[in-house]
Amino acid sequence: MTDILSAKNIGKIYKGMVSYEALSNIDLTIQEGEFVGIMGPSGSGKTTLLNIVSTIDRPTSGEIRIGGEDPYRLSQDQLALFRRRELGFVFQSFNLLHTLTVKENIILPLTLDGVGVQEMNERVAALAEKLGITPILDKRTYEISGGQAQRTAIARALIHRPKLLLADEPTGNLDSKAARDVMEILEKRNQEDGATMLLVTHDPVAASYCHRVIFIKDGQLYNEIHDGDNRAAFYQKIINVLSLLGGNGHEFSPVRL
Ligand SMILES: Nc1ncnc2c1ncn2[C@@H]1O[C@H](COP(=O)(O)OP(=O)(O)O)[C@@H](O)[C@H]1O
Ligand SMILES: [Mg+2]
Repeated sequence: MTDILSAKNIGKIYKGMVSYEALSNIDLTIQEGEFVGIMGPSGSGKTTLLNIVSTIDRPTSGEIRIGGEDPYRLSQDQLALFRRRELGFVFQSFNLLHTLTVKENIILPLTLDGVGVQEMNERVAALAEKLGITPILDKRTYEISGGQAQRTAIARALIHRPKLLLADEPTGNLDSKAARDVMEILEKRNQEDGATMLLVTHDPVAASYCHRVIFIKDGQLYNEIHDGDNRAAFYQKIINVLSLLGGNGHEFSPVRL
């Protein structure tokens, strides 16, 4: 098995008037084809960890390797390219460009990389079909629902076949039906295309689609559980850990901290 992500002994201290240790001693390895969730109460360090893995924020200590590469050794330009080519991002707030159509949003990463028009069209058509957004490709982002917007964002994140898809609360702005649709879509891309995924979520239903869920508390690893025979049983396991974990990790929080 190939390690896509290897994070060793990660620590993060936010320095300011008062220093704050947001993460300490985090070890995390993700292999090719895995579908991993991160849960924990608000303020436990989930977004901080995801930002470090995303190469957006440098750890204070420890080492990160993505596909064997230490992204923090790259120059700013190389890092921007690395992010665009090797990683895919999905956000709670979709982050689509409102002046563009759905299709234009999806092909944006390819446009930046100079991929030919024919190839772009083929890739969009295939992916849109898989994500159920073929009928809305020519719509503007304000003409589509939240669920459709998130599926568009997922298509944009997958179009360049990244090594690792990273998502921070991807269902946080969706109703429960749209949230399930989005999770089913991620699950399918993982199963059928082998896309490796790491997602942060507050939502135990969303987390129950993952194969492995890692819990963090006060910036440290707290527990890790693996899925079993069925999703309902895994959901129950997740709920059990969350109740031990305390805090508000199992409540839906509309506020992104
Ligand atoms: N840029 C920052 N500067 C200072 N403190 C921060 C910053 N970002 C996050 N924190 C603090 O670090 C802790 C973890 O935050 P975060 O990773 O956003 O948690 P989560 O995503 O689990 O809610 C919180 O106490 C938060 O207030
Ligand atoms: Mg967060």
